[in-house]
Amino acid sequence: MSELFNFPSSFVYTEKIANHAQIKSMILKDIISLAENNTNKESDYFKRTGKYSNSPGSGTYNESMLSILLKYKVENSIIWEPLDRMLKHEKLNISKYPKQSVIHSAWYNMYKENSHHRIHSHLGASTFSGIYVLDIEGENSTTFVQDGIDIKAKSYCPKVEEGTVIIFPSDLLHEVPPVKGSKISIAFNIQSSF
Ligand SMILES: [Fe+2]
Repeated sequence: MSELFNFPSSFVYTEKIANHAQIKSMILKDIISLAENNTNKESDYFKRTGKYSNSPGSGTYNESMLSILLKYKVENSIIWEPLDRMLKHEKLNISKYPKQSVIHSAWYNMYKENSHHRIHSHLGASTFSGIYVLDIEGENSTTFVQDGIDIKAKSYCPKVEEGTVIIFPSDLLHEVPPVKGSKISIAFNIQSSF
């Protein structure tokens, strides 16, 4: 099951992964142990971006995160198959289609009660970005915003449940208001050539 929301010049695509329960049972424990070994949670974001964030426990661990995805052979289910289906969506608001794509980066986000992530985009890092909701208690609040000189601000908060993958252009602004409950997600950036 998938859903597409088109902004005037952008989009948010969501899809429920069929084998989510199996994927979660395999990779959640590895991500939790990665997080337990991450003794420097808050400054990770600073090291990566040079900006302070009072955001969730966020792991940059690109190589470790990618090796978990490869170890359990889940990158097709979480990233490539949803991306392919998104690109085949006949109403996708996109001006050019990629010829080739690679994974630029991957990390996890752990949100506790009231964790939040201020508005940002992944502009410059990649072409498409994604979020795989691995574990969630409560409602998802991730909100996407398109705002510009010629575009009146519009926002969209997709209905998301565990096992949903969200894919959007990397330059689309998004934020996570204070979380009610908890959430563990895997985020990724995809770099495409055209
Ligand atoms: Fe983000």
